Amino acid sequence: MSFLVARDLRKTYGPVTALADIGLEVEEGEFVTLLGPSGSGKTTLLMAIAGFTRPDSGTISLAGRDITGVEPEDRDFGFVFQGYALFPHMSVADNIAFPLKVRKWDRARIAARVEEMLATVGLADLAKRKPRELSGGQQQRVAIARALAFHPKILLLDEPLSALDRTLRETMQRELKRLHRQTGVTFLYVTHDQEEAIAMSDRIAVFQKGRIVQVGAPRDLYYAPSTRFVAGFLGVNNLVDARVVRGAGGAVEIEALGARVALPPGKVAALPEGPATVFMRPEDIALEPTPGEPSLAIAGTVADVSFVGSFDLVVIEPRGGPEITAHLPADRTRALPVGAPITVHVRADAIGVVPNA
Ligand SMILES: Nc1ncnc2c1ncn2[C@@H]1O[C@H](COP(=O)(O)OP(=O)(O)O)[C@@H](O)[C@H]1O
Ligand SMILES: [Mg+2]
Repeated sequence: MSFLVARDLRKTYGPVTALADIGLEVEEGEFVTLLGPSGSGKTTLLMAIAGFTRPDSGTISLAGRDITGVEPEDRDFGFVFQGYALFPHMSVADNIAFPLKVRKWDRARIAARVEEMLATVGLADLAKRKPRELSGGQQQRVAIARALAFHPKILLLDEPLSALDRTLRETMQRELKRLHRQTGVTFLYVTHDQEEAIAMSDRIAVFQKGRIVQVGAPRDLYYAPSTRFVAGFLGVNNLVDARVVRGAGGAVEIEALGARVALPPGKVAALPEGPATVFMRPEDIALEPTPGEPSLAIAGTVADVSFVGSFDLVVIEPRGGPEITAHLPADRTRALPVGAPITVHVRADAIGVVPNA
């Protein structure tokens, strides 16, 4: 049995279904991210797990014990929430000590733990400062130290880095990963930023309209999204309308962008004939076919070329469909001429097919 289990959770606000049929299992020590667009139910699920929101139905259990009715303060979870601000009149050290005082730790133990947490988040020199004397990143480190100080059973984080600029956000992402490794605490993290989710998580649960539509490791979601929505949300380029057809001898073929190719057996056994969506990663589009491998040969013209350093970003206008983007090897001397005819090749085993729904 998993460490944290949410089963059949449902929550409505009047006509709005914030959560429907939510099932999620998190292992002890895992870093799991709830990823989805704004309004898809991520915060509602986190609040239900925290105990601040009571679900209409369903259960939440921790280490085999039903905690659905347990008060938030008795769950022993740490929180780093949007707008869950530091206490402005307290020093950094007092902020971190606060949850320990609430738990009636003795003074010596509190002092030792505060010192340890300050060192862990790299703020040992700033213990006496007030929150307003800190940068945004430093404040967030204090919030994280405060949330981890009492050895929470789980750390719940709701878009904790969304207010920081890009560079600081990336630094803090690495820092949170390090803290996760170092403490071994289970992290449940909410973000709408797919890059952040991919970079940080052991597993990601993708939300769409109050439901979890796919759960998996970042690589699984990236390479094998189960729906067009997940593929699009995971930042896949080149989602293209296609048709699934049965070729000679029963092979499954796809028709897209004016070309046709047989897919490897087994890949799309469950797909019915008819309209579907294919996706092709820019890095899987090549100027030459791979010898001995069936490929989709897409003919079109070069619409745009940008030199981005490690590759050329080439936009192609296929004869039979919308523009696609390819990462082609950078030519050291010149760009492909815009307007020139071009044929690019995508290996059949690199083509993803998902139902349109
Ligand atoms: N307290 C509330 N009262 C009414 N509607 C709410 C409340 N909290 C959330 N909702 C609605 O529930 C849906 C999910 O919200 P939320 O969980 O905050 O989404 P996310 O965190 O993914 O952006 C939204 O439509 C939101 O407007
Ligand atoms: Mg939210």
